[in-house]
Amino acid sequence: MDRELALEFARVTETAAIASARWMGRGDKNRADEAATNGMRSMFDTVAINGTVVIGEGEMDEAPMLYIGEKLGCAQSPEVDVAVDPLEGTNILAKGLPGAISVLAVGDRGKLLHAPDMYMEKLAVGPHAAGKISLNDPIEKTLEITAKANNKRVQDCTVIVLDRPRHENLIRNIRHTGARVRLIGDGDVAGIIATAFEETGIDICAGIGGAPEGVIAAAALKCTGGEMQARLYPEDEEEKKRCKDMGITDINTILSTEDMVSGDDAIVAASGVTDGELLKGVRMLSGNMAETYSMVIRAKTGTIRYIKTTHMLNRKNTPVFSSGK
Ligand code: FBP
Repeated sequence: MDRELALEFARVTETAAIASARWMGRGDKNRADEAATNGMRSMFDTVAINGTVVIGEGEMDEAPMLYIGEKLGCAQSPEVDVAVDPLEGTNILAKGLPGAISVLAVGDRGKLLHAPDMYMEKLAVGPHAAGKISLNDPIEKTLEITAKANNKRVQDCTVIVLDRPRHENLIRNIRHTGARVRLIGDGDVAGIIATAFEETGIDICAGIGGAPEGVIAAAALKCTGGEMQARLYPEDEEEKKRCKDMGITDINTILSTEDMVSGDDAIVAASGVTDGELLKGVRMLSGNMAETYSMVIRAKTGTIRYIKTTHMLNRKNTPVFSSGK
């Protein structure tokens, strides 16, 4: 993939972020998600790729846009697979809370795991602890290892966990070590990416969340040199069958970052929708202008680029910018 594509992908998440930011705090997560999806879809039409959605808004019969298998882009090459989450954290956006982002990951064809829509157990750390952790270890041991790798005391480490009843034991065990817990209402992709950036103060992200989101987050950690391990978490026979169909016969199999995103090329772009650890959210400015904060990261070079953009919305012929009325 040409490096110029990185900027194009940032334009895609910027558009989705602005479109959904119109719905910030308005209590309607479905409309917000729809606006983000429309925005992302419309901008993909201008990008010179031959893309296929492998992680998207659902199967073809349940999602009108960005469904799995949908073709994206306006060129014959490069042939790429695309994983999208136009609005990651629909509930938090609807409530006007921090941490919503628009995010996508692109890999060469066949290089992104086609994760089924089910839960996944996840463990993510930044570059210093990468290669040293195991999802099989108890969280207490993972904290010891990560604290040492990050040159901190365990008590100074922070673990991001989705605030869910299923994580009661995990949270208790983390607190028992003296480490700090940052509970989030939604949006573990941003939580996982945060582990790769020391300035966020996040050392570990752990717990059970969506498998499709897991692959997008794994791509970001691949680009930044962090590590994510995962294990699919089927909840019924049907989901177990889906795992088998993917070739995962033992549901205890640990998926490495490389199992989820293989090859040496991947690009991840993300734009903040509401303020978060990594990125500021969309600012609506006077004169029908908007400001966005995005990051684009490439696995090939490890370059992390932050982009602050001012958009003159009335000069763009983009209907998604005027939605949200
Ligand atoms: P949205 O699909 O509403 O944006 O929620 C995203 C998310 O919070 C993910 O970040 C997380 O992996 C998953 O949902 C958790 O699922 P659940 O809400 O069922 O615990």
